[in-house]
Amino acid sequence: MPSDIAAPVIRHDVLGRDHFLLTLECPAIAREARAGQFVMLRAGRGFQPLLRRPMSICRVLPGRRGRIQILYKIVGEGTRCLSQQPVGATVPTLGPLGNGFRLAPDGTRPILVAGGIGIAIFPFLVEALRAARRATPLLIYGARANRDLVALDFFRARDVPMRLATEDGSRGTKGFVTRILEPLLARKDRGPRMEIFACGPTPMLKAVRERALGAGVPCQLALESQMPCGIGVCLGCVVGCPPDERGPIFRRVCAEGPVFGAEEVVL
Ligand SMILES: Cc1cc2nc3c(=O)[nH]c(=O)nc-3n(C[C@H](O)[C@H](O)[C@H](O)COP(=O)(O)OP(=O)(O)OC[C@H]3O[C@@H](n4cnc5c(N)ncnc54)[C@H](O)[C@@H]3O)c2cc1C
Ligand code: FES
Repeated sequence: MPSDIAAPVIRHDVLGRDHFLLTLECPAIAREARAGQFVMLRAGRGFQPLLRRPMSICRVLPGRRGRIQILYKIVGEGTRCLSQQPVGATVPTLGPLGNGFRLAPDGTRPILVAGGIGIAIFPFLVEALRAARRATPLLIYGARANRDLVALDFFRARDVPMRLATEDGSRGTKGFVTRILEPLLARKDRGPRMEIFACGPTPMLKAVRERALGAGVPCQLALESQMPCGIGVCLGCVVGCPPDERGPIFRRVCAEGPVFGAEEVVL
């Protein structure tokens, strides 16, 4: 059951140019949260901007205080207002919302594919996989340029192998994450079964979905969409799904998602 909490800002750290890491204290949300779920944050003071903004729960911090972290990038008015919230301010926070990831079965190697700020969803998943004693994941992480690759220390500290890609070639493979994923999927000696977990911009998810379906590898996609309400009421977030005999099907990303199997949605 989601809670709506006036959550105090405990820390608010700048990570590079326009990325921030926000720590909020909201025990009822921290207690219930699962990897892949999100919260709806009121970004400013009063009703400006009017609509809350959806943000993945990046981590639930260990300890009894019930703290969560949100990793975000400034892209517009809402995230700019959020970045101005000082320590001690309160941020109305509704959550946890959505379905979250299904953990990969035992003996399966999780392949995490992140594009841009899509990386924000994965620290929580890495910790959940560890807690469930699943195989160490491989992270494939792409961004525009080296300066847009954030949170690398988190994954390094947990010995998560990383393959990086940048569009301008300033770090790792030059190009998109699919340049790393494709040869991995094509290898005949792939070893143990894999499952892909992907989060990022829709064109990236579309490309990952096609590659995964083509290779017959299970794949969960965490979708992004505009979310006016975040609680399944307004239908502002729907995504098309494969039609059945009665016609087209749409599902709400906030309520039935944000995580869908690659075969469940049409991007
Ligand atoms: C499930 C989910 C998890 C996400 N997790 C993260 C994360 O962890 N970190 C991160 O940086 N980003 C995350 N995002 C994206 C983030 O929500 C957007 O970047 C943010 O809402 C942009 O707000 P803005 O006002 O700064 O940008 P703007 O560019 O000002 O807003 C984008 C445009 O959409 C409109 N709009 C904004 N919010 C809404 C809304 N809720 N409903 C309808 N229209 C709206 C605005 O009016 C504007 O026209 C997530 C999105 C989803 C759906
Ligand atoms: S955001 Fe309103 S139904 Fe999904």
